[in-house]
Amino acid sequence: MPPIIAPSVLASDFANLQSEAEMLNRSQADWFHIDIMDGRFVPNISFGLPVQAAIKKHAQKPLDVHLMIVEPQLYIEDFRKAGADIITVHYEACPHLHRVIQQIKLTGAKAGVALNPHTPVSVLEDIIADIDLVCLMSVNPGFGGQKFIENTYAKIEKLKTMIVAQGSSALIEIDGGVNQENAPKLMKSGADVLVAGSFVFTAADPEKTIADLKNIAY
Ligand code: DX5
Ligand code: ZN
Repeated sequence: MPPIIAPSVLASDFANLQSEAEMLNRSQADWFHIDIMDGRFVPNISFGLPVQAAIKKHAQKPLDVHLMIVEPQLYIEDFRKAGADIITVHYEACPHLHRVIQQIKLTGAKAGVALNPHTPVSVLEDIIADIDLVCLMSVNPGFGGQKFIENTYAKIEKLKTMIVAQGSSALIEIDGGVNQENAPKLMKSGADVLVAGSFVFTAADPEKTIADLKNIAY
């Protein structure tokens, strides 16, 4: 199966969000990856609900919303109303993760859980059957353009084993430092979804870069 490609709008030109959305619509991208940062869970602030809603007006593909915020349970319905199709919360931000997953599903959105690089995949043993997506952070969340962490491959393999063993339909998404060089090995290890920010948006031809990622041999 080819990867699901989710370019991260964080690396796009915020002064031209409509044309960036139109480029993603034309491209082979599957989802729009939307990075929401609150300056508390992560040491950076990106953008929030009104900007997501503005992107939604022009997006013809699902919005994959990655909430890097504390107390995400306070905002799930708002992000759904602002057009989120997939809502991913951080394991590290949710003492009542099971409840938040149910809350996301009640809105009709797909539910995802993200893990920081230091968080072992084993913490998902008792919830993997309930979730639609696991986002493995392959950089420390908060910024685009960082270097890929090599330990990610081993985490993918462990997570894949858990997913298969439990008959879960969860997709494995890799977020951070993804490029043409590491994409084949990520796919071989068991990834389903590749997020790419700076690799796509700093390229001379983002549409072609997306096509190249979509069609990588592995
Ligand atoms: C990092 C974000 C990522 C980021 C990826 O906190 O969650 O989605 O935008 O950007 P690149 O591909 O540049 O690492
Ligand atoms: Zn992200």
